[in-house]
Amino acid sequence: MKVAIASDHGGINIREEIKSLLKELGIEFVDLGCECSTSVDYPDYALPVAEMVANGEVDRGILVCGTGIGMSIAANKVKGIRCALVHDMFSAKATREHNDSNILAMGERVIGPGLAREIAKIWLTTEYEGGRHANRVGKISSYEETK
Ligand code: RB5
Repeated sequence: MKVAIASDHGGINIREEIKSLLKELGIEFVDLGCECSTSVDYPDYALPVAEMVANGEVDRGILVCGTGIGMSIAANKVKGIRCALVHDMFSAKATREHNDSNILAMGERVIGPGLAREIAKIWLTTEYEGGRHANRVGKISSYEETK
C-alpha cells in the first residue's frame, strides 16, 4: 500500500504523528506538505492528495486540518473519492468495512495525536467487506458517472 498525506497549518502535529505510524507499519508514503510557516488554504492540499488517490498514483490518502471538515469537503469533490471525516475508533473501522473510504480526514483541533494515531492504524488495517455494501457504494459511483 502507498499513502499520500497532507495537512494545512492546523494539522501539522497529527500529520507528523501519522508519518511516524506509517514508518512503524512499513507503509510507503508521500508527504505533500504543508511547510506551513504561515496559514495556508486547505483545498491546496486536499485536492492534490485526492487526485493522486483518484488516478491510482497512491492507494489511500490521509488529510488533517483544524477540524478535518474543510479537507473532507474538498477531497469529496474529486470523482472516485470517498473521504471519511473520523474522530473515533468505531467509525474508523466501520468506514473501511462499509464505505470502502479511500481518504481519511481528521481535525487536530478536535482530537489529539494519540487518538489520531489509533484511528489511522485501524483505518489503514481494516479491509472493505463488500457484499451488501458494494451495491451502496456502487450507487455513489453510478451517480458520479452521470455528472
Ligand atoms: C484553518 O483556520 C481552518 O479553517 C482549517 O484548518 C480547517 O479547520 C477547515 O475546515
